[in-house]
Amino acid sequence: MKPYRLHIFVCQGKRCAAKGSEDVLESLKEKIKAAAIKDVKISKSGCLKVCKETETEGEFSPAVVIYPEGVWYRKVAVSDVDEIIEKHVKKGEVVERLFHYRMTK
Ligand code: FES
Repeated sequence: MKPYRLHIFVCQGKRCAAKGSEDVLESLKEKIKAAAIKDVKISKSGCLKVCKETETEGEFSPAVVIYPEGVWYRKVAVSDVDEIIEKHVKKGEVVERLFHYRMTK
């Protein structure tokens, strides 16, 4: 088996779940499959703590992280999935309007 090119984590913690992260996860899986993209792994994660970065819990939910770039996205909705696939997954471009931060090395 060839190694994956990208690994996408979609938070399924309770604050992100309350804002539709399960639908984001399912939409990502369906659209990646429909696009016949086979080198991208999609996984659910537990709470990534993005939801606790402001006094309003869940303000930045749902959270999505894409490796190996280590790019974190916030407030991701089902309506954002197409843009994430077209820009980040296919072209390696960050979706600036959803950008939260990039991990350091
Ligand atoms: S529940 Fe998703 S970051 Fe906390």
